[in-house]
Amino acid sequence: MSEFKRLHVSALMEANWEAPDWQQLETTKVGEWLLERHSMTERLKACCETLTVEVIGLHDVDKTSLSDSERALLGDGACLVREVVLSGDDCPWLCARTLVPMSTLTEQEKDIADLGAVPLGQRVFNQANARRDAIEIASLVVDGQELLARRSRLWVNDKPMLVSELFLPHAPIYQEEG
Ligand code: PHB
Repeated sequence: MSEFKRLHVSALMEANWEAPDWQQLETTKVGEWLLERHSMTERLKACCETLTVEVIGLHDVDKTSLSDSERALLGDGACLVREVVLSGDDCPWLCARTLVPMSTLTEQEKDIADLGAVPLGQRVFNQANARRDAIEIASLVVDGQELLARRSRLWVNDKPMLVSELFLPHAPIYQEEG
């Protein structure tokens, strides 16, 4: 699993995020995945029998480690970093890195630090007031392969977190059907 960390998490951290061309993307299947405003977990679950989450990293970063754009989207504070690989029927589909400000991990949201193998989307979208904004996309070359990625901000009880997701080569986003 350290291979994912070395290759895919670092690719996500170096991505050049850009605003999507909504009009053009909205009509495509790839666009439906990239622009999904509700739970990505739900969308992936619909494509397999068993969706599993493996946590490959969980650590704190102080505010000086955030990039300018991360600071603009989250504010200027220390964060918890959660890195996972999601697999559909044992096939790795998605690598995700989430920055959760410490100021989000308060009161009802304290449990987000201890989700373990519970998918983040399952927890967040359980809450009626959950929403997603600031969707950006990127195309990343990992190991010579061009892969799609997106970054978006999730809000729960008006507290933000920033989720970056890299679609691995066997992810349903690349399949013709489904
Ligand atoms: C996570 O559990 O951290 C997670 C799950 C699904 C995603 C992104 C992050 O699409």
